[in-house]
Amino acid sequence: MTKIAVWCRHKEDNIIGIGPNIPWHVSSDFKRFQRLTTHKALLVGQTTYESFPNRTLPNRKIFILTFEKEYQVSDPKNHFVIPLEEVNQIQEELYISGGASIYKLMMEKLVPDFIVDSVYLGDLKEGLTGNPVSITPSVQIMEKEYEKITDDFLLDNVATTIWAKKGAQIDEETLTHLKNAIYNY
Ligand SMILES: NC(=O)c1ccc[n+]([C@@H]2O[C@H](COP(=O)([O-])OP(=O)(O)OC[C@H]3O[C@@H](n4cnc5c(N)ncnc54)[C@H](OP(=O)(O)O)[C@@H]3O)[C@@H](O)[C@H]2O)c1
Repeated sequence: MTKIAVWCRHKEDNIIGIGPNIPWHVSSDFKRFQRLTTHKALLVGQTTYESFPNRTLPNRKIFILTFEKEYQVSDPKNHFVIPLEEVNQIQEELYISGGASIYKLMMEKLVPDFIVDSVYLGDLKEGLTGNPVSITPSVQIMEKEYEKITDDFLLDNVATTIWAKKGAQIDEETLTHLKNAIYNY
């Protein structure tokens, strides 16, 4: 399976969330995520899953990581709790979609083939309660072990770049899908 990490982080501090919320509202960023992941399989942590409206995203298969043994998903036909040790048996193209703990775990253990790295250049929303959630450890791994394979693409204050694992063979079909989702907005 080809594995793709997809995130949008705030410039410099690499914040991706405050409490359960994403601290900016850029509709084109949300739409890019839709184009990237619709009809695909996603992997998320329980906190991110709980943050989806009605705990779902239409037209996607969602794999959820949780330590909670009896965790009940909202849509058992399309959503599946998966043990960490079975993630590498998933056959489909897999979109690693957060949050911070899952990006870190996957950057260390699963080694995504691609990273769709979106950087929000604006100011964070004020007035949100909860702790800031940052992905600096994952960004450090990316900067060391990956290389940029596209230029930055700027849209609505968000710069998006595709990175690939250094030395790995490129899955051209997946790369074409990623580029189409990013450029054809
Ligand atoms: N900007 C973006 O691109 C983006 C994308 C996604 C999410 N976010 C933000 O990220 C934040 C959430 O990130 P987070 O790091 O706090 O939470 P998270 O990664 O979404 O989920 C954490 C949960 O995942 C489960 N988990 C973690 N490691 C596991 C393992 N090894 N095995 C099994 N289950 C495991 C645990 O669930 P249990 O507690 O149930 O055991 C843990 O509490 C939110 O603010 C969200 O809005 C931002």
